[in-house]
Amino acid sequence: MTLHLVDDHDAATARVTALVSHVIRETPSLVLGLPTGRTPMALYAALAAARLDWSRVRTFNLDEFSTLAPEHPGSFRAFMDEHLFRHVNLAPASIGFLRGDAADLAAECGRYEAAMADAGGIDLLLVGLGGNGHIGFNEPGEFLHAETHVVPLHESTRRANAERFGGDWRAVPASALTMGMRQVLSARRVVMMATGASKADAVAAMLDGPLTTRCPASWLQAHPDVTFVIDRAASARRPG
Ligand code: F6R
Repeated sequence: MTLHLVDDHDAATARVTALVSHVIRETPSLVLGLPTGRTPMALYAALAAARLDWSRVRTFNLDEFSTLAPEHPGSFRAFMDEHLFRHVNLAPASIGFLRGDAADLAAECGRYEAAMADAGGIDLLLVGLGGNGHIGFNEPGEFLHAETHVVPLHESTRRANAERFGGDWRAVPASALTMGMRQVLSARRVVMMATGASKADAVAAMLDGPLTTRCPASWLQAHPDVTFVIDRAASARRPG
C-alpha cells in the first residue's frame, strides 16, 4: 500500500494526473477503470489538457444509474462524455459502459463482466470514496457482492448525486448497476483519491479500521497494489 498525503484537492489532482499520464505513456493499450463524481472532475480536465494518446486505451466505468439512457443528462455516461471522452482521442468502441436502460439488467451485468474479461481485465482502476465508505456503488451493509450487480442506493448517495438532477435527490434513480468487489480487487493496480472534510470519517474507516462490509472501501487494504491519494482535510479523523 502506498499513501500520498497531500495538502489539498489541487495537489491530489496533480498527483493523480501525473500518475495516470505516466501509465498511459508507458502502456498505450491500457485498460483503465474510471469513476464519475466531483473528485475526478479536475483530474479529467487535466488529463484532457495533457495531450495524451488515448487511441489504444480502453475504458470501463465503475457504475451507472438504473433506468437512465446514456443520453440522459444525469447519466454517468453523459458525465464522462462531458468531462473526458469528448476531449480525448479515445475510440468510441473502446468505451465500456453499463447501460442503465437495458431491458434485462442482470443480462447487462453479465455482458459487462464478459467485456471486461475479453479486454484482459483492468490494468489501472481509479476510484473515489463515498462519504459512507462506498466504492463504485458497493454500498455499506451486511454483505457485499463480488460480481457486477444491481444495487439499491442509500438515501445519502442519492442526495450526494442530486446536483445533476436539478438538486432534487428524489429524482436520482433509486438503484444503480455497479462493478462488484471482485472487479475492484482484481484490477492490477488501484488508485483511490479522496479529498475534503466530508470524506474524513470514511477515510479513517478505509485506512485504519478493520475490513468490513460496513465500509466497502476498507477492502482496498487487502489489495496488493493500491495507492491512496488523500488530502489533509480528508485525513483529519485518522487515529494518532
Ligand atoms: C461514481 C462512483 C462513486 C464515487 C463516490 C465519490 O462513479 O463510483 O463511488 O466515486 O461516490 O463521489 P464524489 O467524487 O462526488 O465525492
